[in-house]
Amino acid sequence: MAASAKRRRGWRKRLGALARFTGALVIVGGLYSVFSPSLYAQEAEDNAIDSEVVKGQELYDTSCISCHGDDGEGIEGRGPSLIGVGSAAVEFQVNTGRMPMAAQGAQAPDNYPQFTEEEAAWIGAYIEYLGGGASVPDDLAALVEHADVGEGGDLYRVNCSSCHGYAGGGGALSSGAEAPALEGVSDEEIYQAMLTGPQNMPVFADNELTPEQKADIIAYVQYVVNDDKDPGGVFTLGRYGPSTEGLAIFLVGMTALLLTTLWIAGKS
Ligand code: HEC
Ligand code: HEC
Repeated sequence: MAASAKRRRGWRKRLGALARFTGALVIVGGLYSVFSPSLYAQEAEDNAIDSEVVKGQELYDTSCISCHGDDGEGIEGRGPSLIGVGSAAVEFQVNTGRMPMAAQGAQAPDNYPQFTEEEAAWIGAYIEYLGGGASVPDDLAALVEHADVGEGGDLYRVNCSSCHGYAGGGGALSSGAEAPALEGVSDEEIYQAMLTGPQNMPVFADNELTPEQKADIIAYVQYVVNDDKDPGGVFTLGRYGPSTEGLAIFLVGMTALLLTTLWIAGKS
């Protein structure tokens, strides 16, 4: 009798323990399911960034390391350090086909790009991972949409026209370098150029030209250069202003006058 009661109590004890254990599991499981989705999303996001950096490093190690060195530290006489230049500089250089540089020269020419924009962004992510740096704002399109073209024109004439010409036609600089024509450049490219100052171009940091002012300039450049409004069409005078127009009308007019006098002289 005593033995069976003892056994029953033993069973009850074990069942009680089982119930408590199951209860604890249910509570832990519940808590986990409350917290885990956000943990999961965070982890997935981290992984996505990590994998861009990894893919960027792979491309870097095959195409850029020979001049820019291990981990972007630069190689004396071959290529500068890329630590701290940021993704904007990388995307500008790669998307315009300037990099990877084919041969050492006064100025890496803009070429047909060798990477897709996605790959350029990966390399940019890797360089940013190495040392931070400037990048283009995510809302650039919205900034440009609300930009002030007139204001952009004023800013362009003060900051850019000395090298790129009044109408973005480009111009020669000293020692074989040139400021390229701004025809066919994208909004991102203009922003990246201002932010990173490639070659002889100065850097226009955000304390010199705010992102809004940069957007004004972009809107102006696209308005003047790329939405073709040149009244001359194919026979454009480069829109250098009244001097070229005056010269053109002078030459055309003088020739006409000369021919007329010759014609009159020939008749008499
Ligand atoms: C043959 C050598 C060479 C190779 C290959 C090369 N670069 Fe360069 N890179 C240079 C030199 C030289 C400069 C500096 C002169 C210039 O800007 O034109 C430079 C400049 C740059 C700059 C501008 C740095 C700044 O301060 O703004 C970036 C960004 C860059 N390279 C990225 C890359 C990337 C990314 C690759 C690979 C896809 C690459 N380069 C491959 C030689 C090279
Ligand atoms: C001191 C002369 C100078 C000034 C001032 C200057 N730039 Fe430049 N710019 C250059 C040079 C030189 C390059 C070519 C760099 C290279 O090839 O790596 C360039 C390149 C560019 C490019 C890239 C064009 C292409 O074909 O990929 C853009 C866009 C640009 N500049 C816009 C601007 C804007 C906008 C301003 C005014 C805020 C400005 N620049 C002021 C000299 C200048």
